[in-house]
Formats: sequence, C-alpha cells, structure tokens
Amino acid sequence: MNAVLQSHTASDRLNAQQANQPTAEALLQVQGVSLEYRTPERVVRATHQVSFEIDPADRFVLLGPSGCGKSTLLKAVAGFIQPSEGQIRLAGQPVKEPGPDRIVVFQEFDQLPPWKTVIENVMFPLLASRTLKRRDAEERARHYLEKVGLSAFADAYPHTLSGGMKARVAIARALAMQPKILLMDEPFAALDALTRRKMQEELLELWEGVRFTLLFVTHSIEEALVVGNRILLLSPHPGRVRAEINSHQYDLKSLGGVDFQASAQRIHRLLFDEGEAPAVEHDLRFQDIRIAY
Ligand SMILES: Nc1ncnc2c1ncn2[C@@H]1O[C@H](COP(=O)(O)OP(=O)(O)O)[C@@H](O)[C@H]1O
Ligand SMILES: [Mg+2]
Repeated sequence: MNAVLQSHTASDRLNAQQANQPTAEALLQVQGVSLEYRTPERVVRATHQVSFEIDPADRFVLLGPSGCGKSTLLKAVAGFIQPSEGQIRLAGQPVKEPGPDRIVVFQEFDQLPPWKTVIENVMFPLLASRTLKRRDAEERARHYLEKVGLSAFADAYPHTLSGGMKARVAIARALAMQPKILLMDEPFAALDALTRRKMQEELLELWEGVRFTLLFVTHSIEEALVVGNRILLLSPHPGRVRAEINSHQYDLKSLGGVDFQASAQRIHRLLFDEGEAPAVEHDLRFQDIRIAY
C-alpha cells in the first residue's frame, strides 16, 4: 500500500522550486498565518506565522501538543475565524467565510441528528445547501454509504449504531458534499483503541478509493505517522512550525516496527525538547524532511 499511498506532488514542486522552474499553485496555501483570540482582558495568540501548502490528494497532518493551535488553524481554514496576520487561499481564492468546498468532521459524532435515519443524515447537507435535488442527493448518499460499508444501515437511526459506525456516517456525510478538502479535528480521539485503529485503517482504504484531500489534526504521533503522507510539527503555545516531514512510507502495518518507532521518537524529541538547537537534516535523519526550523 505504501507505494500507492505516496503523493509525489509536494516533493515535485519543491524540486521545481529549487530548480527555479514555474510551479503549479498548491490547492491550499497557508501563508504566515497568525491567529488570535481577543477577550476583554487580553489577546491570546494561538499560532504564530504558520505556513504550509497542501496538494490535491495529500493526507496532511497537523501534529502538536494540546493547546498549540491545531483546532484554531483548522477553524481558520474552514473560514470560521480570520487570521490577524498572513493569508489562507484555497484553489487560489482567499478564504473569507465557511463554504461547502471545506467540510469539517468533528470529534463529536453525536452531532448526527437522532431523529434522522443514516441516509437522511448523509443527504441533509446536500439538500440544505441546495447542492442537489432530493433524488440526486439520495443517489449520492447511497454511493458514499456504500464506500464506508454502511449500505445495510441506510434506514437505521444513529442511536442504534456503534461509535465507529457513527464516525463512518459522519465521514460519508462529509464526502458526499465532495469538498475540495476534508477537515478532520481529532476525529477518532473519543473512540476506544481498537475502534480507533480500525477507523484509521478504514480512512486509508476510503482514501485509496476516493483520493480526497485531507487535513487531519491529531496530538498522537503514532496516528500522524499512520494517517498522514505529510506531517507538520507545531511547537507548543503559540503554535509555530517546527518541521515538516514526509511520512508516506508508514501505514498500520508499520506499527511497532523498528523504523516506525525510531521516527516516532525523533518526532517526540522535535516536539518536546525545548532547549534543542535548531533542527538540521542530518541530526533528524529524516531522509525526506523538507523544512526544519
Ligand atoms: N475561544 C477561545 N478564546 C480564547 N482562547 C482560546 C479559545 N479557543 C482556544 N483558545 C486558546 O488558543 C490556544 C490554541 O487552542 P486550540 O487551537 O484549541 O489548540 P489545540 O487544538 O492544538 O489543542 C490555546 O491556548 C487555547 O487556550
Ligand atoms: Mg484541538
């Protein structure tokens, strides 16, 4: 699966940049973005001049300790909050407000309205946003329910489903909108360890079939290595970019392997060794590390 999961576009662009060739624009560009919360008493800076780019079909992970601004960054990409500095562009257009081209999957799947069946839940955003008429919405919903293996549960109500199944409904509902980018904020954090692993596996399988573009937030190094093909490491509060790492070589089968463990430890040091000198490539021993601060 590794070879198939690999996305070449990002490194191709980097090579082209180094060779001063003109490059295609990334799908999502986050440029020098600082995000702040203003309360009457004070200003909380959540992120400081964060930059990254996401290409189509990337599985891009924001990784960092709690409070480093991951959720805030995701909300800014979704258009719920505006940067105090820098800018965010999707397909070349500045992000100014929420839109159906960016769909967020949150951790709380209990947000699925309990009075709607599974298929009604998946159809709802398509109808509410007037993306499709009822008949086409139903067809689209059935297609994505099949993709997540829930065709047999189309007429079930959410309370009859397990946590993992609710997660799959939430993912089907998001994918049915066919967003330019799917945003997931610690989507599996509330699940038990085994279900979480299963959901990671299913997410990767789904990606194999659909090749959507994913921005995924987690504070778990292991989850980042498994889910992502690229990982942005953020330092603690306020979040700044520490490094960006290519992680396409790992999947669930790599868990526990020597190479996987070594990478996890190196990431841990990068995230938490406060006094560490600026990271340079040969220290990190990530052969394919792209930037280091
Ligand atoms: N609504 C808010 N008002 C004030 N400060 C907030 C608000 N939401 C988050 N913060 C602060 O912004 C920082 C980043 O928060 P968050 O993006 O939730 O971090 P993460 O998702 O990485 O855990 C934290 O210090 C948090 O306390
Ligand atoms: Mg968060």
